[in-house]
Amino acid sequence: MLSQQMRWFLVVAVGALVLAAWTGVLMRFGMVDGFPTWAQNFGAMRHAHSHLMYFGWVTLALFALIWADLPRHTGRSLPRGVGVQMALTAVMAFLSFPAFWANGYGLTAIGSVRLPLGSMAATFNGLTWFIFVALYVQATRGLAVRPLAVQLWDWALALLLLAALGAVGLVALVITRVEQPFLQQLFLHQFLDLFAVGWFGLALLGVMWSYIGAPTRGWLPTFSLALLLAPTFLLGVPPTLLPTTLFWVAAPANAGAAFLLGWHGLQLWRQRAMLPNLLWLAGGGLGIVLAAAALLLWPGVWQEYAGGQMRIFYLHVLLLMWVSTALLGSLEARCLPGSRQMRWINWLWTAGVLVMIGALLGLGLALPPGLPQVAWLRAAAWGSLGVAIGASLFWLALLRGAATAPQRSPYASD
Ligand code: HEM
Repeated sequence: MLSQQMRWFLVVAVGALVLAAWTGVLMRFGMVDGFPTWAQNFGAMRHAHSHLMYFGWVTLALFALIWADLPRHTGRSLPRGVGVQMALTAVMAFLSFPAFWANGYGLTAIGSVRLPLGSMAATFNGLTWFIFVALYVQATRGLAVRPLAVQLWDWALALLLLAALGAVGLVALVITRVEQPFLQQLFLHQFLDLFAVGWFGLALLGVMWSYIGAPTRGWLPTFSLALLLAPTFLLGVPPTLLPTTLFWVAAPANAGAAFLLGWHGLQLWRQRAMLPNLLWLAGGGLGIVLAAAALLLWPGVWQEYAGGQMRIFYLHVLLLMWVSTALLGSLEARCLPGSRQMRWINWLWTAGVLVMIGALLGLGLALPPGLPQVAWLRAAAWGSLGVAIGASLFWLALLRGAATAPQRSPYASD
């Protein structure tokens, strides 16, 4: 059972999903019908959208779910300071939205000074993650047995720290004003891609195993999965900039990581009776991610499809269809079990995600020949509307649930 405090942080996290999703809808309809005068910097808007999704939605929700379940695995109370850390993480995540909206990672003039507001926001967010890691180490230090979920969270946090080094590199490039496209892309993808596949992927598996309970027999990968995931961010660097040798480090590691993720997927499937409804859609997203990892080994596929619309398609299969859907399903199972209205909200979310993802695939492959691209763009926009409305209704249901849930102390064992 969740403490009242963690319920409220989950309400804030889903609030971030709602704001970032409506920003996505604005961009999707803007691409078809044009942008309003107050939203003209598309690149900055895209950064505001993606960073709020990363920092405010997925990271805050994962932090809250880890804090909610950790006492059950450790048998200890949460350390003092968790509430302050969560409040700081939430505030910094929301501040990143206007900071990136102003000028993305570029410089913004404030009076007579020009400040890198986006980089500053990313740095302050990173500092709150370091506080989380320090409190997590304190909470789990010296455990005689580290359960599967805790092992997955350990490695997820190791990859979060590795990803944060990419943000440090980006900030260093801005401060030193070095214009080096390869390093800029390397650091950007070390930060964003490793954050997504490493931190999100492993922490989410931990949350799911924590909810249904680790299987009593058989082996499930933790460290080996983290090790193989670490170099996969190189595949995000544009093919024109990445040396071939680095591609041949990243692509087989990616296929190996996909195999191990598939192993987790198979074991989760065996326990499907205990999984919430939305996890069927999430499982479909994971399946596409695994298939893409195998396809990338085919000569020329990565070079042909790594950039442009296929990258946007892949990112949203990974982040929307797999990670966000599985996370929403986990929240629903914990906070709104047996709620009848959730059936309609799930339906809207599922339909929106499938239409949006299907349209992005059509756009990326430019199929069927002769169909104007604007038709796919319009379909993606209408699909995104379903996702944003579904997320907003989910937020309202969660808010109502948090307001009526019984009071519990966050520092007592769950
Ligand atoms: C309602 C759901 C969503 C909509 C409508 C949406 C829309 C968009 C749009 C329009 C773009 C720019 C595409 C382009 O440049 O052609 C974009 C990029 C992106 N989105 Fe989303 N998105 C959604 C959900 C998500 C989620 C859940 C995440 C992460 C958890 C996410 C992360 C990203 C990232 C990382 C990028 C690329 C940013 C960059 O390259 O600078 N999106 N999204």
